Amino acid sequence: MRKPFVAGNWKMNGSRASIKTLVSGILNGMGRVNNVEVVVCPPFVYISEVAQLLEGSTVALGSQDVAKEESGAHTGKISVSMLTDVGCKYAIIGHSERRPYYLDRDEVVAEKFIAAQKGGVIPILCVGELLEEREAGQTEAVVEEQLQGVVARTGIKALENAVIAYEPVWAIGTGKTASPAQAQEVHAFIRNWVRKEDANIADKVRILYGGSVKAANAKELFSQTDIDGGLIGGASLAADEFINICAAAG
Ligand code: 13P
Repeated sequence: MRKPFVAGNWKMNGSRASIKTLVSGILNGMGRVNNVEVVVCPPFVYISEVAQLLEGSTVALGSQDVAKEESGAHTGKISVSMLTDVGCKYAIIGHSERRPYYLDRDEVVAEKFIAAQKGGVIPILCVGELLEEREAGQTEAVVEEQLQGVVARTGIKALENAVIAYEPVWAIGTGKTASPAQAQEVHAFIRNWVRKEDANIADKVRILYGGSVKAANAKELFSQTDIDGGLIGGASLAADEFINICAAAG
């Protein structure tokens, strides 16, 4: 049985004041959320502060990225040990807003994934196709290549301690959600791809859907067989909406 998982990716949004309000709203609403692992991924500069606000709660912390290097002369980067030092349990890796714009190619994504696991942080590995790739019938090939980019370097067992997020790029921040059937099709493809290598891991690995998830569409998406929760962008910035999404996963 896979425990449902919902993570809020706050991206580059918020201020000390707005984040305080958001976290207190989430904590107040957690009583409505049953049996769901809830994670928030603030911008780096606010992680410590959010860690303090979350103390004693069941809400976990994640980062939006991590350096592949352990330490040293890497201006502007944040290491895995810094993340664990401030209480981060998860790190989003390979988000589509990073892959093309910040040179997070498959090889870099794999290195970050490996560094995270080595340092005790659980990767949330993002995969997903562009609209033109979907229209050209390449969705499965693209997703497979992104998964293979990591698994070829780590071995399939690494997925035992990771979360996968399928985020079709055309559905991110656009208001165009993949239909539950469209999402389920790709989630099933991913799980079957894992199953070919290791049936036990395929049954255990959580696969999240991301892309314009809102309270209004969450229940139907999360009720699909292979959708184990969501990676939420815009809708994770409003406490009530986010809590309703988390509750829908339970
Ligand atoms: P939206 O929910 O804003 O579409 O963003 C999804 C996403 O990119 C989460 O990582």
